[in-house]
Amino acid sequence: MKDVMRLDKLLAMLGEGTRSEVRSAVRAGRVTVDGQAARDAGMQVDALSSRVCIDGRLLEYRQQRHVMLNKPQGVLTAARDPRQQTVMDLLPPLYRAMGCMPAGRLDKDTEGLLVITSDGQLAHQIISPRHEVGKVYLAHVDGPLGDADVKAFAAGLHIDDADGAFDARPAALEVLSSGETQSVTRVRVTEGRYHQVKRMFAARGVQVTYLKRLQIGALLLDSALLPGQWREMTDAEIVLLRQEAP
Ligand code: URA
Repeated sequence: MKDVMRLDKLLAMLGEGTRSEVRSAVRAGRVTVDGQAARDAGMQVDALSSRVCIDGRLLEYRQQRHVMLNKPQGVLTAARDPRQQTVMDLLPPLYRAMGCMPAGRLDKDTEGLLVITSDGQLAHQIISPRHEVGKVYLAHVDGPLGDADVKAFAAGLHIDDADGAFDARPAALEVLSSGETQSVTRVRVTEGRYHQVKRMFAARGVQVTYLKRLQIGALLLDSALLPGQWREMTDAEIVLLRQEAP
């Protein structure tokens, strides 16, 4: 496996300064690659196998990969499964080899934004209820909804069903349309219990018929991604997620 990139990019990624600072360090002869003084900050290095030192200090490269997936319905959110297709099966094998895991879980029949990352700390921050990262869903339900439901969500629903009992945190429910047999809503929750959104609606007497996650913190699902499609996250998106989950 290789991860080839410019030397100045690698040094900046490793926190050795801005691009211009690390270029100065290279010009000053402070950087070596495999024992040779590096003269060109733009030289290509394999971050995984090259020995890069600054002022004689060997830099440790921990490669991280962050993927945004539009999870399709019918696929399990799991690292692997002996029988069923998992979200990891939608990515090239490299990502599993790099230790990528789904950050959180969407039900098999839920679609939408799923972050898959090799950065366990970032994943924990996204998932941990302590950080209260908001998750926004588009939910269709099979009956009418109104102000009483919006107020009940905002007050914090008490859930008591076959899967157990808990007091849900206050959640923001927006009713986009309401009808006798179908309502369309956006809902923002800050926790991710088992079947959280479905159970919250069930507590109000309606069943979720379609669920799609649109947003995690400030990170939006890229609308160009069709269900099943994915891409690497941009640096700006990763910063957004980290800021959201300090
Ligand atoms: N809430 C649910 O009920 N299911 C999901 O997949 C996500 C949130």
